[in-house]
Amino acid sequence: MAKMWAGRFSKEVDETVNAFNSSISFDGRMYRQDIRGSIAHATMLGDCGIIPHADAKKIIEGLKGILADLDSGALLMDPTAEDIHMFVEAELTRRSGDAGKRLHTARSRNDQVALDIRLTLRDEIAEVRALLKKLLQTLTKLAAQHTETVMPGYTHLQRAQPVTLAHHLLAYVWMLLRDDGRLADAVKRMNYCPLGAGALAGTTYPIDRKQTAALLGFEAPVPNSLDAVSDRDFCAEIGNALALLMVHLSRFSEEIILWCSWEFRFIELDDAYATGSSIMPQKKNPDVTELIRGKTGRVIGDLTTLLTMLKGLPLAYNKDMQEDKGAIFDAIDQVVLCLKTFDPMLATMRVNKENLRAAAAKGFINATDCADYLVKKGLPFRDAYKITGTLVAKCIAEGLTLETLPLEAYKEACPQFEEDVYQAIALETCLNGRISEGGPSAAAVKEQLALADAAIGAL
Ligand code: ARG
Repeated sequence: MAKMWAGRFSKEVDETVNAFNSSISFDGRMYRQDIRGSIAHATMLGDCGIIPHADAKKIIEGLKGILADLDSGALLMDPTAEDIHMFVEAELTRRSGDAGKRLHTARSRNDQVALDIRLTLRDEIAEVRALLKKLLQTLTKLAAQHTETVMPGYTHLQRAQPVTLAHHLLAYVWMLLRDDGRLADAVKRMNYCPLGAGALAGTTYPIDRKQTAALLGFEAPVPNSLDAVSDRDFCAEIGNALALLMVHLSRFSEEIILWCSWEFRFIELDDAYATGSSIMPQKKNPDVTELIRGKTGRVIGDLTTLLTMLKGLPLAYNKDMQEDKGAIFDAIDQVVLCLKTFDPMLATMRVNKENLRAAAAKGFINATDCADYLVKKGLPFRDAYKITGTLVAKCIAEGLTLETLPLEAYKEACPQFEEDVYQAIALETCLNGRISEGGPSAAAVKEQLALADAAIGAL
């Protein structure tokens, strides 16, 4: 495709450089936003008397035609075009002649690309947030079914204290709600219009930046023309929110991987969300979660790309910044893929309540409660802790649990132990005694669930 800036040059650009320089393979994704931005710009140029109204009208009609043809596939993007901006403008000029040639008045590709990315991210993050909301709803629905499903809570991956599956799932709900909040927040901060910044130093034309900002649904114009075209901090912010979201999905995935192993057998994935082995007939692999865990590294890499790209750049625009799109679009694509598979995978998995309960019933998960029992009988916590520790050691040595240890053994360790110790260390007592706000008892979890439902409903 012939270069629009060809006037200054006496030679064609080397073919390899041309291909190297071209970004249409990845910024073609922004064609709708590019056209939308150009329609707003042309409207403003016409209204401000910078170009004739008739030309503005022709431009807008031409742009609408290009949009329709790209949408329908009647017009294909030219892979040799330098970028989406050049492609659309060239096509417009081909269709509407001189009017088309007036579109780029008082504009640069620098403010244009800064606009297009903002518009695209705004649209695509809305899609990510809708998927995230759906996942949150799946999780609270699952949690509501499992407020009584006892399971071990872990620290150091060692059984620690009893919780319920509802409580465990809700932990992720709050993490994901914060991820959504970070995305919403980043979009809010991004929602200022760079159009009118020109190449870097504004323009001598009497443009109306407030008009284009309003037409495109922005809060206001970006106040500084250099900042408007130079920064991609919003890409890094969104990249960070996406990377953290992936980190949360990855931790969750790691647990699912453990939970569906034969060692745990807490859950079983639906056949539609697992895969087999080419050689081992018994295998049912949790590939979805492993891929999510793997892709997390990729999204963290995208964030690293963005931060590293920016760190040494002098103001204002530098071509390095063309690399922003590959990174942020990849992060979005990976997150969308992950959310689309993780959600139905969770919704269809089978929970083995018996195995969860059995795991909680072993492993001295009630040892803290046994110590607390003595504290309630008047012992200082440190003494109670030590006595319980010796009881646990005795149980391990004799192949017993605290539930099966005879009362004489308890009394030998501490005369304050009575028959009611068995009631105090029963799993249900341990769990439902944890009534502190945010704790795992069914009552506390139901309150938590109501809070989560309200927060999700308000998204
Ligand atoms: N394709 C370019 C990008 O993505 C558009 C801006 C080009 N501006 C320039 N001065 N060469 O960054």
